[in-house]
Amino acid sequence: MTASTAGAILTVTLALVSCVKATVSNSNLTVPPGAVYMNPLMYNVVGANYTEWRNLSTVGFNPTNTAPPFIQVFDPSFLDVTGSSATIRKITSNPGFAFAHEAPIYIPDLNAVFFSSNDGGALGYNGWYNNSVVSMINMTEVDMALASTTGDVNIQIQTLNLPDTVQMVNGGTGPYKGDLLFITSGRALLPPSIVRVNPSPPYNATVLLDNFLGRQFNSLNDIKILPGTDIMFFTDPTYGWLNGFRPEPMLPSQVYRFDPSTGQVRVVADQFVHPNGIAFTQDGKTAFVTDTGISGGFLGTNQTLPATIYQFDIDPQTQTFTNRRVFAYSDSGAPDGIQLDTMGNVYSGCGEGTHVWNAEGTLIGKFYLNSTSAEMIFTKSGLVILHEEAMYLANIQAQGLNLATL
Ligand SMILES: *[C@@H]1O[C@H](CO)[C@@H](O)[C@H](O)[C@H]1NC(C)=O
Ligand SMILES: *[C@@H]1O[C@H](CO)[C@@H](O)[C@H](O)[C@H]1NC(C)=O
Ligand SMILES: *[C@@H]1O[C@H](CO)[C@@H](O)[C@H](O)[C@H]1NC(C)=O
Ligand SMILES: *[C@@H]1O[C@H](CO)[C@@H](O)[C@H](O)[C@H]1NC(C)=O
Ligand SMILES: *[C@@H]1O[C@H](CO)[C@@H](O)[C@H](O)[C@H]1NC(C)=O
Ligand SMILES: *[C@@H]1O[C@H](CO)[C@@H](O)[C@H](O)[C@H]1NC(C)=O
Ligand SMILES: *[C@@H]1O[C@H](CO)[C@@H](O)[C@H](O)[C@H]1NC(C)=O
Ligand SMILES: *[C@@H]1O[C@H](CO)[C@@H](O)[C@H](O)[C@H]1NC(C)=O
Repeated sequence: MTASTAGAILTVTLALVSCVKATVSNSNLTVPPGAVYMNPLMYNVVGANYTEWRNLSTVGFNPTNTAPPFIQVFDPSFLDVTGSSATIRKITSNPGFAFAHEAPIYIPDLNAVFFSSNDGGALGYNGWYNNSVVSMINMTEVDMALASTTGDVNIQIQTLNLPDTVQMVNGGTGPYKGDLLFITSGRALLPPSIVRVNPSPPYNATVLLDNFLGRQFNSLNDIKILPGTDIMFFTDPTYGWLNGFRPEPMLPSQVYRFDPSTGQVRVVADQFVHPNGIAFTQDGKTAFVTDTGISGGFLGTNQTLPATIYQFDIDPQTQTFTNRRVFAYSDSGAPDGIQLDTMGNVYSGCGEGTHVWNAEGTLIGKFYLNSTSAEMIFTKSGLVILHEEAMYLANIQAQGLNLATL
C-alpha cells in the first residue's frame, strides 16, 4: 500500500469517530495491503454521542467496519510480525461443522497440521455419547493451491481414525519424540488423559497419564513441554461438566506438572476460574496461562470474570509457577490457546480472531476474523488460525518458537 492510500484509510477512520481530540502520530505508516492502522490515540476519546459502545465482550472492535478477514495494526512494531505483504486467506472450510477448534500441532517432517473439532460446544456434534474428531491438513497442498490463485482455497482435510483410548482431544503440542502429544477432556466416565499418537498410519496411540493418584481429572484442556526438558505442564478446567459431557468436577481448576520419566504429577499453580491455554518462553523461565473465566458453558457469560493471560516465573529448582501477575486482558471474548513467536510476542485466540501482544503485554495487532478462533499454530507457510468452521493462513514473517521435543 502507498502512503497516500494509508492516509486515506486513516481519514475515513477519523471520520467514523465522532469526537477526536488527540493528535495522530505516525499518520504515514505503511501497512500491508488490506490491513488497517488502529492508532490507539484515535480511539481514546469518542464522546458521549458515540453509538458503537461494546457492552458485550462478544462484539468485536472494528470501528472502521472493515470486512473480515483483515489485519489490525495497533502498534508499528506489529509490522515486524506481519512483514510488508502479509495476507490472510481461507484455506479450508465446512460451514455447519466446527471441525477446526483446538489442539493444532505442526509436524515439519510431514508439513502437516493436526487439529481437533470442537468438543462439547456449538456445531461440534459430540457430547456425553459421542467423541470429537481429529483431522489433518496437508500444508504442501495448501501452498500449491494458494500459489495458483490470489483468493481463498478449500483444501480437503483428512480425518484420522484414532483408537478409542483417545476421547475428546482438546489440546496438543509437538512433535514430541516424533509423535503428536494430545491432551483429552475425556467423555462421560471415560477419563481425561495425555496421549501420544503416531502422526502416520495406523495412528496408534499410547496413553501416558489418565489420573491423579487414582482420581480422574475434570476435563484436561491444554499442554506444553517446558523447553529443553521433556516435562509436561497442563491445565484442568471444568468445561467437560460446563458443556455437558463430563460429570461434576471433583478437583480444583489448576495447572499440573508431569514428569513422564518418574511418573510424578503435582500442582504448580491454582486460583484460576478456568485455566486454559499454556505456553513458555524459549528460555524456560516464564510461563503464561490463560483464564477463560468469562466463558462459563451452561452458566453463560459473566463479564466480571477473567478473560486474562497470567504470567509467572518458573522456579528454577521446583518448576512451580511463582510471582503470578496479569500479562494482558483481552477486550474480546477470552484468550484461549496461546503461542509465542521468536521475538517474544504472545498470540492468543480470542473472541474476534488472534490477538498479539508484545513481551511487555502491549496489544500490537490482531488477525481480525470477527468471531471466535480458539487456537493457532506457526508453520513453514505462516500462521495457521483455527476458526471452528474454517481455517485461515496468515503468511506473516514472524516465526514460532520451536515446540519440538527430541
Ligand atoms: C507524512 O508524509 C508527508 C509527505 O511525505 C510529510 O510532509 C509529512 O511530514 C509526513 N508526516 C509524518 C507524521 O511523518
Ligand atoms: C451530542 O448530541 C447532542 C444532541 O444532538 C448535541 O446537542 C451535542 O452537541 C452533541 N455533543 C457532542 C460532543 O457532539
Ligand atoms: C448496548 O449498546 C447498544 C449500542 O451500542 C445500545 O443500544 C444498548 O442499549 C446497550 N445495552 C445496554 C444494556 O447497555
Ligand atoms: C461481525 O459479526 C457480527 C455477529 O457477531 C455481525 O453482526 C457483523 O455483521 C459482523 N461484521 C462484519 C463486518 O462482518
Ligand atoms: C501432502 O501432499 C503432497 C503433494 O500432494 C504429497 O506428496 C505428500 O505425501 C502429502 N503428505 C501427507 C502427509 O499426506
Ligand atoms: C451423536 O452421534 C449420533 C450418530 O452419529 C448422532 O445421531 C447424534 O446426533 C450425535 N449426538 C450429538 C449430541 O451430536
Ligand atoms: C506405534 O506402533 C509402533 C510399532 O509397534 C511403535 O513402535 C510405536 O511406539 C507406536 N507409537 C505410539 C505413539 O504408540
Ligand atoms: C459473575 O461473577 C461474579 C464474581 O464471581 C459473581 O459475584 C456474580 O454473581 C456473577 N454474576 C452472575 C450473573 O452470575
